[in-house]
Amino acid sequence: MIQSMDSNRLFHLRNPWLSLVLAVRGDGEGCDELLMAYLGPPLDEPGAVLPLMQTWEGASFDSLRQILPYACPTEGRGDYRPCMVSARSLSGLNCTELFFESFRIEAGKPGLTGLPASYTEQAEEADTLIITLKDPLTNLTAELCYTLYRERPVLAMSARYLNAGTEELTLEAAHSACVTLPGRYDMIHLHGAWARERAPERVPPAVLTRTLSSARGASGHEHNPFVALAAPGTTEFQGSCLGLALVYSGSFSISVDENAYETTRLLAGLNPRCFSWRLLPGESFQAPEALCVWSEEGLNGMSQAFHSLLRERVCRGHWRDQERPVLINNWEGTYFDFDHDKLMAIARSARDAGIELFVLDDGWFGQRDNDLCSLGDWVENRRKLPRGLKGLGEEINALGLSFGLWFEPEMISPDSDLYRAHPDWCLHAGERRRSTARHQLILDMSRTDVQDYVISAISGVLRSAPIGYVKWDMNRNFKETGSASAVRQEEVSHRYILGLYRVMEEITSAFPEVLFEGCSGGGGRFDAGILYYMPQIWTSDDSDAVERLFIQYGTSLCYPVSTMGAHVSAVPNHQVGRVTGIGMRGDVALGGNFGYELDLSAQSPEDLAAIREQVQLVKNIRRTTQRGVFTRLLSPFEGNVAAWQFADEDRVILCAYRILAKPNPAPVRIRMQNVPQGLYRTADGSEISAGSLMNAGVCPDFPRGDYASCVMVFERKN
Ligand code: DGJ
Repeated sequence: MIQSMDSNRLFHLRNPWLSLVLAVRGDGEGCDELLMAYLGPPLDEPGAVLPLMQTWEGASFDSLRQILPYACPTEGRGDYRPCMVSARSLSGLNCTELFFESFRIEAGKPGLTGLPASYTEQAEEADTLIITLKDPLTNLTAELCYTLYRERPVLAMSARYLNAGTEELTLEAAHSACVTLPGRYDMIHLHGAWARERAPERVPPAVLTRTLSSARGASGHEHNPFVALAAPGTTEFQGSCLGLALVYSGSFSISVDENAYETTRLLAGLNPRCFSWRLLPGESFQAPEALCVWSEEGLNGMSQAFHSLLRERVCRGHWRDQERPVLINNWEGTYFDFDHDKLMAIARSARDAGIELFVLDDGWFGQRDNDLCSLGDWVENRRKLPRGLKGLGEEINALGLSFGLWFEPEMISPDSDLYRAHPDWCLHAGERRRSTARHQLILDMSRTDVQDYVISAISGVLRSAPIGYVKWDMNRNFKETGSASAVRQEEVSHRYILGLYRVMEEITSAFPEVLFEGCSGGGGRFDAGILYYMPQIWTSDDSDAVERLFIQYGTSLCYPVSTMGAHVSAVPNHQVGRVTGIGMRGDVALGGNFGYELDLSAQSPEDLAAIREQVQLVKNIRRTTQRGVFTRLLSPFEGNVAAWQFADEDRVILCAYRILAKPNPAPVRIRMQNVPQGLYRTADGSEISAGSLMNAGVCPDFPRGDYASCVMVFERKN
């Protein structure tokens, strides 16, 4: 519901979980500023914010500007906190004032041109308020878009900037969203590196500006475009928090600024370090969307709202609501060393185990026997695959498995036919040395001719063979971010992402039945932007079961289980050398889109028997693991035992993991949470009630030894 009150000077967006109040504050002479007067649990009367606003007015002028919660703070007018907009005129002036001009209310949610965004299927799902602000001197206009979902604690925000004046302007910052809250908050973010992505860090309040960012051209391994502000004391199960996820896959910035007036500002958008945008008269710039969740039910409440939003209203297409297939990927099983017969041997073992999809990873094209060459030459290697992709795919299909293929569409090897033909097609900075990483350069996706090539090359392969799945990899980050064709080099970083989104849109809509999985050196581009095109992403190149407990636990703070690729791999594990049992490896991979990544044809009969059982279990319960409510129970970051649960109307599942064995240990009892009312059948045929699962709890029966796991499925009886 959106109400406009007080002669259109107060706007109240409200649903059962949250209220947003925007207020126009002015001197009555046309200098009306827009404030975010309130964001929090629902208000009965928006007028309740007026006394708070009056206390602000008591501040001295200089303090006032540091206290007022401007909805769209601008550079150069004495709000010294990080600003939403920085627009420089040709003469070099950087001073903008945006005053309230008009508003409109729409049912549903408008899309964002050229960018991924959350959406509605019916107009009744959401209401949108669009407020226009304008600078009276330059005529720079900002359209702030606020969509409140009716049945979710979710507010989507974005901004479009238009030069309605007669002079060129340069946007040096053009953020997506600004939220200013009174008070002090813990900041929770996800950080990491290759093979150890998305570890949560909780930082107590501090009078500082803290910024998470990427300048890599991808959202990156280092920081994820997600943050939560939690009231101190908020736990997984109780307390208030605000989560924000940016729907963008390139260089981003999210900053949290707390100042001396106990005012906290959250600002999210493109990273100003890698961004500058010339706005000629009549031109506009669309900033990406930021999704905000308000939770009064702790961090799990926030995560669950993100999970259903991302799964149901960011992911799209045929596979959005489908059970995902159990797959086998040959990467860790063979690396580059494979041929048709070896792949078929793995595929036959996969068939025997009940696996549904065979994925051929890197190395099937050009002359690629290592990572030194051939990216860009998307032509099958007939030496390795004498019957081609078509022959291989058909033989795999004949076994009853579907066939999937790896690509790295955005890359070009200097040693490739593509590079020899088009040396100017990579990102490069004029005559400066072109530096490679993993021996490769990046295709200049800001160019339409390059985008067209990628669309036609990938589509050609997809048409040439029975391919039902694509893994879309991206294994290096930006350096020398320039383009041979760009006039505005400073825009290349963002134009690359716009080009990438165009390519992803065209390919995924031309092949609607293909299941696409994103990837970037593991989980280096795990963001809501990619999920708009691809409903799942490879979570990390670290496939060790213990490491994965941490990575998947952290990732779940924002992202649903149905989006996280999780595979059982060989031991000793290739990343850390650890030996874990097949049971533990399977039970951990259950907390994601389940698959295998090893040479199945070389496993022991005992492990193969266990694998057959695992695959059957996954098929029985995946509706619940992929679409049910996921709750974190015990954190591996805080103790030796980790646990999470899944719940839907059919069953609840407890997954518990004990990392190290201890002598004479304390008993472990785990209380399940929010179990739907009813009676449940346990594995031994006895019955247990929802109340007992939650109050008396469950004692996992861990096997002896290190790295032990226990998965308990409780089937609902009524
Ligand atoms: C990085 C990915 O994360 C791996 O899974 C694998 O596909 C390799 N690239 C292949 O080069």
